[in-house]
Amino acid sequence: MSADPHTPSGHRREKVILVTGAGGEMGHGLIDVLSCDGNQIVAMDVRELDAGVRSKCRDAFVGDICDGGLLERVNAQYEIGEIFHLAALLSTRGEFAPETAHHVNVDGTLNLLKLAAEQARAQGQGVKFMFPSSIAAYGMPSVEAKRTNRVVNEDQFTHAHTMYGVNKVAGEELGRYYQDHYRKLAKDRMVRPVDFRSIRFPGIISSDTVPAGGTSDYGPEMIHVVAQGKAYDCFVRPDTRIPFMTMPEAIDALLRLAAAPKERLTRCVYNVSAFSPTAADFERLVKRDFPGAQVSFVPDLGRQAIVDSWPEECDDSAARRDWGWTPTYTFESAFEKYLMPKIRARYGKA
Ligand code: SER
Repeated sequence: MSADPHTPSGHRREKVILVTGAGGEMGHGLIDVLSCDGNQIVAMDVRELDAGVRSKCRDAFVGDICDGGLLERVNAQYEIGEIFHLAALLSTRGEFAPETAHHVNVDGTLNLLKLAAEQARAQGQGVKFMFPSSIAAYGMPSVEAKRTNRVVNEDQFTHAHTMYGVNKVAGEELGRYYQDHYRKLAKDRMVRPVDFRSIRFPGIISSDTVPAGGTSDYGPEMIHVVAQGKAYDCFVRPDTRIPFMTMPEAIDALLRLAAAPKERLTRCVYNVSAFSPTAADFERLVKRDFPGAQVSFVPDLGRQAIVDSWPEECDDSAARRDWGWTPTYTFESAFEKYLMPKIRARYGKA
């Protein structure tokens, strides 16, 4: 792969931001904000983007991050200043096809890191690489351990139980390697070709999109299903507790970390936290906002075990200290100020 920063006519290529997984939940939210800030976005997704997202991008590639030829084309056509690598196969889907999950989540991430390193070499400067990791990186050994170790920091309990979680830890480590050690013995080695920054996100709730293939999906699913006047069978027990945040907070965190001066960062991977409701807390608020809502708890033992392996809360003091992370909402105010107004408008139940 070669990435000459000039076009054949000798003009310097315009710098763009590459967003993989652009058609996913986080892609939607991120591209909205990046495009409002006037950035030139090149999107990549396995599926055709919907017209709204596509219109905010300068270019869009439909294809697989494991397709070397596709990445070569992107590498040849654009000078990439920053990569937001969002494409992934999530935790529930990954357990039905673990090898495919590994291929997409790890080999795909490796391909993107290599692309970043090649771009850095051609440009003579490091390329920023933003990588959403996940609470799935954690693996609490038992429900008792989860209850006694309520708040977990980035370096504890990282023996994940899902392929997706194992893949996210691998992605974090690969990013750190590309940043600090890539081609350690090569004579022409470039120092720090990749500026790797990652956030371990909790479950994310969006008012605009409904998640698919994840295991924290019960929270947002309950809200969206009930808002449509339908009954919801929640696949975890009422006492199940993991952290969540809203999509605007997740996007804000990603952009704040991207904007932070490198010298302030003491780690590559940060926790961020907002609120940690139980599934019963979700039920309480949806019933308050949609009186008559029907919610039943019908635990799926496999998915329950996955959520039981994720901590109740994450210690985000490093993110607060290093780059000023603060959440916008409490659980209650997320419902009142963000979710309910948009969801009522969306489903016409104002
Ligand atoms: N929301 C993701 C999942 O459930 C966790 O990152 O897989």
